[in-house]
Amino acid sequence: MTVLVTGGAGYIGSHAAIELLNCGYDIVMLDNFSNSKKEVINRIKEISGKDFTFYEVDLLDYDRINEIFKQHPIESVMHFAGLKAVGESVNIPLTYYHNNITGTLILLRVMKKHNVKKLVFSSSATVYGNPKQVPISETAPLSATNPYGRTKLMIEEILRDLYISDNTWRIAILRYFNPIGAHKSGRIGENPNGVPNNIMPFISQVAVGKREKLYVFGNDYDTHDGTGIRDYIHVVDLVKGHIKALEYIKHHTGVEAFNLGTGKGYSVLDLVKKFSEVSKVRIPYEFTSRRPGDVAICYANPEKAEKILNWKAQYNLHEMCEDTWRWQSQNPNGFD
Ligand code: WQD
Repeated sequence: MTVLVTGGAGYIGSHAAIELLNCGYDIVMLDNFSNSKKEVINRIKEISGKDFTFYEVDLLDYDRINEIFKQHPIESVMHFAGLKAVGESVNIPLTYYHNNITGTLILLRVMKKHNVKKLVFSSSATVYGNPKQVPISETAPLSATNPYGRTKLMIEEILRDLYISDNTWRIAILRYFNPIGAHKSGRIGENPNGVPNNIMPFISQVAVGKREKLYVFGNDYDTHDGTGIRDYIHVVDLVKGHIKALEYIKHHTGVEAFNLGTGKGYSVLDLVKKFSEVSKVRIPYEFTSRRPGDVAICYANPEKAEKILNWKAQYNLHEMCEDTWRWQSQNPNGFD
């Protein structure tokens, strides 16, 4: 069974590619390297010991995407490709709508043309907006507080409309909480271009001396220590959830959303303390003002994925920090 992995050179996509190859799937991968590096492809092949076809292509290029479906017996798609920085999306919304939505529409049109109707879609907990209550279940109200989140929400609606028009589609929507960590080999990990938007790569770059200190966005939230609480999940747990979803849609038509989280919340200071304990490096930090758009507390109710996908996150925060530290200390400047 050949799986097309879009955005396969990215942080989540690369870990998913390794998991797919380890499970015996054949994959075809595409990426435009807008937020990833060519070297990842070599490292995926090195880690998995498997080969696969890679295309440097943009999802916006209908003809080239169509050609890939002509050349390969693709049976399903794991769709990771997309821009994903909340703050950036506020500044360049048209780029986010064009890239994320038009790109997905082109992918879906080509899938339909080639009668490929199994899709695992990378969504995000950001579609819950500012949650009214925690833990968050899939039935919680959906809203978005930024263009990035709105692209995810709109794509989810597009997928539901697509199924209404043709109920042979088999779609799993996976809503990620906060993926962190890295493959145990230390050969791949979160390697963002420029200044990291997300907290874990920022902390790990402080630990290797690439950044002077962490700026903590607000310590006046209504939480145990005043800092924001999130549901951090190991990226390998996350991608194992994708394999379970791929197996699920083999036997189920419809559109089903699943939260991929641990169900536990940790504050910024909890994370800093744990990372220091693991790395034995002090992480200097300074409290600054809240970041616009941030919510105080966000963590999952993961019961639906546990029951229906038979999936449950296995790694704890200590292991997430250990694996991040191994990756970052072996690749202090990431790689190009
Ligand atoms: C986590 C906590 C910050 C950086 C976003 C997207 C989500 C997903 C994951 C794509 C918060 C605090 C952060 C820093 C800080 N992305 N923080 N200093 O905002 O929960 O989620 O990334 O799919 O869709 O919304 O993640 O890592 O940016 O922030 O204090 O330099 O760390 O305030 O409490 P977030 P994050």
